[in-house]
Amino acid sequence: GSLVAGLAALALAGCGAIPGSVTPVDEAEFTNELAIPPLAPSRVVDGTRVFSLTAQEGATEFLPGVQTETWGFDGSYLGPTLRAERGERVAVEVTNDLGEPTSVHWHGMHLPAAMDGGPHQEVAPGATWRPTWEIDQPAATLWYHPHPHGATEEHVYRGLAGMFLLDDDASRAAALPQEYGVDDVPVIVQDKALDDDGQLEPGNGGEPGILGDVVMTNGTVGAYQEVTTERVRLRLLNGSTARTYQLGFEDLDMDLVATDGGLLDAPVRLDNVRLAPGERAEVVVEMEPGETTRLRSVEADLGNVAVPFAMGGNDAFDVLELRAADTLAPSPEPGWDASEHAAGDELDEADASVTRTFELDDSRINRQRMDMGRIDEVATVGSTEVWEVRNTVPIPHSFHVHDVQFRVLSIDGEAPPPELAGRKDTIYVEPGKDYRFLMRFDDYADPDMPYMFHCHMLMHEDDGMMGQFVVVEPGQDAGTVPGGGADG
Ligand code: C2O
Ligand code: CU
Repeated sequence: GSLVAGLAALALAGCGAIPGSVTPVDEAEFTNELAIPPLAPSRVVDGTRVFSLTAQEGATEFLPGVQTETWGFDGSYLGPTLRAERGERVAVEVTNDLGEPTSVHWHGMHLPAAMDGGPHQEVAPGATWRPTWEIDQPAATLWYHPHPHGATEEHVYRGLAGMFLLDDDASRAAALPQEYGVDDVPVIVQDKALDDDGQLEPGNGGEPGILGDVVMTNGTVGAYQEVTTERVRLRLLNGSTARTYQLGFEDLDMDLVATDGGLLDAPVRLDNVRLAPGERAEVVVEMEPGETTRLRSVEADLGNVAVPFAMGGNDAFDVLELRAADTLAPSPEPGWDASEHAAGDELDEADASVTRTFELDDSRINRQRMDMGRIDEVATVGSTEVWEVRNTVPIPHSFHVHDVQFRVLSIDGEAPPPELAGRKDTIYVEPGKDYRFLMRFDDYADPDMPYMFHCHMLMHEDDGMMGQFVVVEPGQDAGTVPGGGADG
């Protein structure tokens, strides 16, 4: 429509010849050791594992000799990795040392809405917020990031993000590399646009958001990781605000072992996996002694995206080099007991009692703009629902639902490919396609506090491509949202 055409013109006007295009494959140098986010310290107080995180300002040397102003948790960029066990009660003391409100959302976590860290749980400058909840879901690679209303893109882009790893008996017993930072490596992939002074360039409003030409892993540009074992597990997180990657190895296959919500039923052999902003994948790669390989993003298959909206978002480039030592310690063939892993968490379409439909256009869901005071959907605790999501425009979107892990029932009527057959909380939604998701709202009824669903391309989210749902007891009505009416 004309809105789409107008956006295309805006996107083209705002950028140079090859917007966001990155250093081509083969020309990049990988001479910096990969930074591994430290495991966050914790203390156990009255049976609760307590972490603390402080959002703060700082400066980071992404490029040699250039200090870029950034934000981080407990440091200048990104944050420590939180780690907890299924069944454990956790608390996080979140302190805001920034000059403006922020929040911290636990992306992928099943927890009460009041603990979720969305736009209704903003933390004022100087304040500390202390959510607490019990870990009640299978082992998975989750993450955390700010979610302040209208400013999520900026806060994440400046560097506020980190991983939150969950373990359980099945994941510990799995034949998978498990030594954090050694053969079980967090890999947060992000891109930045830096200006002539080496400072972060703000977005210009062009679709699909900020596409930078500096690609980094865990904040390290041109990173390499020494490999000392036959197999290495990479926990991939697309922590970018707009760019979709399609990640695989230069000349090696990989085993996809887990997606957003945890382990698949069995490993899947793949060349590469597409990750939109917010999505995760755990992959295991096997290396020969002395071998070097690179994780790269091949030209991403964005589906039927109109050319102006791809805007270099489908460039090919290298991301991380892996260098195997001359002798490698043995690693087991990947495998685990799937029946034990997700026991009790299975979903059955026959149980679905409600179907909801969501139409995504360029910046709205069902033609509505996010309103902090409006509840868009009311789900009943214990109910299983089908959510049908359709992307009606030639613009990429990444659909995310808080609180639950869903199953993809179908894409345009077909069964999902194996990489989309596991537990998901975020998914790339191709233009023109119909997606059907199955989810269940197990507990935590609270008529007055909503969870979010939204596009995880953060410019879209900030622009209002977000809605709110509450979970209520049977027969209960939605309540009144605190801060209602405020539509920043
Ligand atoms: Cu990762 Cu509502 O966000
Ligand atoms: Cu979007």
